[in-house]
Amino acid sequence: MGENVILMSDVKKTYIMGEEKVHALRGVSFSVRQGEFLSIMGPSGSGKSTCMNMIGCLDRPTSGIVKIGGKETAKMTEKELAVLRNKTIGFVFQQYHLLPSMTVLENVMMPLRYQGIEKNLRRDMALDALSKVSLGDRVNHLPNELSGGQKQRVAIARATVTRPSIILADEPTGALDSKTGRSVMELFGEINAAGTTIVIVTHDPRIGDSTRRCIRIFDGQIQSDTENPDADLSLAFSEDSVDSRIVEIRPKMVVKEKPKNPIIGIDLDFLPDYAEF
Ligand SMILES: Nc1ncnc2c1ncn2[C@@H]1O[C@H](COP(=O)(O)OP(=O)(O)OP(=O)(O)O)[C@@H](O)[C@H]1O
Ligand SMILES: [Mg+2]
Repeated sequence: MGENVILMSDVKKTYIMGEEKVHALRGVSFSVRQGEFLSIMGPSGSGKSTCMNMIGCLDRPTSGIVKIGGKETAKMTEKELAVLRNKTIGFVFQQYHLLPSMTVLENVMMPLRYQGIEKNLRRDMALDALSKVSLGDRVNHLPNELSGGQKQRVAIARATVTRPSIILADEPTGALDSKTGRSVMELFGEINAAGTTIVIVTHDPRIGDSTRRCIRIFDGQIQSDTENPDADLSLAFSEDSVDSRIVEIRPKMVVKEKPKNPIIGIDLDFLPDYAEF
């Protein structure tokens, strides 16, 4: 296991909502080494997505230190953060966030565009990433011509095509049935076996129990940080792991801003416009 790729030190995030302050993270500290497979688990409203937005540099903490790949992010400009995200991190979301008017291939080529890679090479890299998620025969489809599991595999291909050192996934199986969810988890397992650090945010204990490390958060604080060397991703959605401990859903504030970069964690405005597709 390699160096620290993620370091969070006493990270706090407070949202100001008119008169009210929402303490989404109340001082969270942990580090993640290259090659780890971590789940961050907790009930709705506990601060998981906020935590992921901090790691993914999609938002800045109110206080505390976030270092990604050894780089302190606090003093970086928006443009520098956008470049860091594009080079270092691949994002996967519950709702896929594929661009509906682009084909599967164009969606996967997209992040490479912002690295100035020429079109033929972008195409070859995207085809390679799509074949690794077994979608080599769907490259000219539009996203709405695919099943949920296939859409998520396209999103995973898009996240991996830049060969990031970290994949951040927020409820990646939340919209999938158990069987498809398990195959997506196994795919993450293969990507991790090739050396990529994976962080999955979930409220589902069946995922938390199936990853080698699990950080549980509650009300913006870390409750536990456990290692399970025998964890088996293929058991993530097996019948006998159906969990009776599913945590109660707390009411949460309804007003939520859209994440800053809902598509792929790239600030399109801040990056140069390379040649058209
Ligand atoms: N942009 C925002 N403005 C104000 N409050 C916010 C914002 N984003 C999140 N919150 C609040 O911060 C707390 C943590 O939210 P967060 O989205 O991180 O929870 P979560 O654990 O991801 O929940 P879920 O499982 O439902 O996705 C919640 O109380 C939420 O309402
Ligand atoms: Mg969330």
